Amino acid sequence: MKKKYLILYIFLFFVPNFSCDNKKQTDQEKNRIKQDNMEKQIQAIISQMTLDEKISLLHANSHFSVAGVPRFNLHSLNMIDGPNGIKYDYTKDWQIPENVDEQASTYLPVGMALASTWNTQLAKQYGDVLGNEAKYRGKHVVLGPSLNIVRTPLCGRNFEYLSEDPYLISQIVVPYIKGLQQNNVAACAKHYIANNQEILRDYINVNMSERALREIYLPGFKAAVQEGKVYSVMSAYNKFRGDYCSESNYLLTDLLKNEWNFTGAVISDWGAVHSTSKAALAGTDIEMGTEIKLGNDSYDQFYMADPLKEKVKSGEIDQKVIDEKVERIIRLILRTKHGKGNYNGEFNTREHQKVALNVALESIVLLKNEKSILPVDLSHTKTIAVIGENATRLHGQGGGAAGIMPKYEISPLEGLKKIVDDNVKIIYAKGYSSVKDEDQTKINQQALKIAKSADVVFFFGGLNHGDISSNETREFDTEFFDKKNLQLPYNQNALIKKLAKINPNMAVILISGGAVKMPFIEDVPSIVQAFYPGMETGNALAQILTGIQNPSGKLPVTFPKKIDDMGAHALGEYPGTDDSTVFYHDNIYVGYRYLVSNNIEALFPFGHGLSYTKFKYSDLKIDVNNNKIMAAINIKNIGEAEGAEVVQVYIEDIKSELPRPKLELKAFKKIKLKPNESKQIKFTLNEKKLAYYNDNLNKWITEPGKFKIHIGSSSEDIRLSETFVWK
Ligand code: BGC
Repeated sequence: MKKKYLILYIFLFFVPNFSCDNKKQTDQEKNRIKQDNMEKQIQAIISQMTLDEKISLLHANSHFSVAGVPRFNLHSLNMIDGPNGIKYDYTKDWQIPENVDEQASTYLPVGMALASTWNTQLAKQYGDVLGNEAKYRGKHVVLGPSLNIVRTPLCGRNFEYLSEDPYLISQIVVPYIKGLQQNNVAACAKHYIANNQEILRDYINVNMSERALREIYLPGFKAAVQEGKVYSVMSAYNKFRGDYCSESNYLLTDLLKNEWNFTGAVISDWGAVHSTSKAALAGTDIEMGTEIKLGNDSYDQFYMADPLKEKVKSGEIDQKVIDEKVERIIRLILRTKHGKGNYNGEFNTREHQKVALNVALESIVLLKNEKSILPVDLSHTKTIAVIGENATRLHGQGGGAAGIMPKYEISPLEGLKKIVDDNVKIIYAKGYSSVKDEDQTKINQQALKIAKSADVVFFFGGLNHGDISSNETREFDTEFFDKKNLQLPYNQNALIKKLAKINPNMAVILISGGAVKMPFIEDVPSIVQAFYPGMETGNALAQILTGIQNPSGKLPVTFPKKIDDMGAHALGEYPGTDDSTVFYHDNIYVGYRYLVSNNIEALFPFGHGLSYTKFKYSDLKIDVNNNKIMAAINIKNIGEAEGAEVVQVYIEDIKSELPRPKLELKAFKKIKLKPNESKQIKFTLNEKKLAYYNDNLNKWITEPGKFKIHIGSSSEDIRLSETFVWK
């Protein structure tokens, strides 16, 4: 070959690869230069700032903002709740504003619904909708995701939270944050940490072992910081080991900032700062909401406003402490520059509504389906009796901080009416009522009457978020309250039993933010769970009930038979002692970890969810090599409908120095299959996945020896198991 051709040949052969790698490198390099420049810019600004300007960044200047510093082109930080839709701006008196309709936004399914999809791609789209709508509204920080562990099914805020399992939380939260922050809007991982109950939340002192902290309560936040690169974290109201979370040096400085290298800002929950020096020195960067205690326009009197300034002036607090905070806040401001103008996002688009629908569809969990009541065959159905207050009740505005003004919200009744044609008659009766002074007997009777003549009965019940303006009980799924027990309210149980006797062709559809007791379980053939699926609730439920969509949601929490079947209640304390202290003696035995380790059968276990088709698991192969465990299985759709299954991988450590739960979720995959289609799926686990936190040694360890890998369709429906030896 002539020399010049040889050179050309070499060039053509190698350059494309080289240029691809090169591109990656240059992107990385560009990024690094950008970062460096930003850091230099931050330092340059700080060096020119007055103390007043610095202090102005450390506290609110309205209910939901921090002032910017115009002379350095630093925009104000506008914050908004979160976490399942962009809220309206309150008036100064904390009222709903007059122009609230203009601020009506995309109402996404709540956190627990998102987690019940077990779909990480949907989580990214979900975050993207939030970031995009926040940008449109000129907001820089979205106060979400809510990441607290579901420790007890009674916690009023569980609906906002994701799961009882730290791994599932971590998997959902990372794409949520990435999707949100790709809009140059900050997510805010909240409430750091152990806000696991609403009762006494403002001062309860939570105590737990270091092991429980590391294995159960921290991983979601750690993933948010290290993998999601979250720009801000909100400290919780409660105390942790004696200190308010906003004053905990261990939580904020040692763990978050030093051990995890968090580069963003710590924002206090609203009114959660209680001191100047302690909060400032512990690592709180921005104080919000103290006007709740001090009164309107008290911003200069905030702990981290004038009082902090005085302490700096007197030398009690070092300038460096302030500068470290200012650095983080300026970084947050620069990271949330929206680009050209502030209002360039999108609001209420068809695409956003589609995301809301897709998440809703995949979030609905088919708990029980005997006698094939579902999906209802519309070609053989003349009359559907729709019964229950939740068939018409809208939920978007409820729940406390998470409540928003939805652009629209399709109720289950509306959704069903839209989907059926003229041949099918839908008759509705309320059946039960949340309003105390309504004639319950009459309402009951009407429902029993319509049930008799119908081909099928759909009962829509469950819980609600309560309504602050009426005299109904608010103690269900809402901020500020916990549930008193797992009972369905308003005599729904009795009504369901009566209805099932009159017409056994019945499906119960529960809308709630978590588990409820089901004394009617043997009486009704089909039960469906929906965790407040957002603005498209009715459309999604109608598609599932009529079989247009095959359900694929899986429970992200255990539904126990009774409350004492949960570790928090059987072993730990709830809601705490008279002096407002709670000990998590349940330790790492949270959720299914307690049940499976004690052979307690759940009403419906963690990870459970049926489909209109069936899946066969086979051929588990394990290979331990190069410090990795490779597991492969075959999965086949052996039914007649296309469907999706969430294959769950649990690890069991056969022998360990400290006791471990019998199952720990370590991986999962959601896979869609046509009838008869089969696929091999592979999982790779590394040493870290086998580790536990040994609090005698204060470190994560993986002990050599026998382990088992369990592959299942839920934590109680393990289909394949195999033993392997580690090292
Ligand atoms: C809640 C936070 C919320 C904040 C602002 C607090 O009461 O705990 O989750 O972001 O209020 O509304």
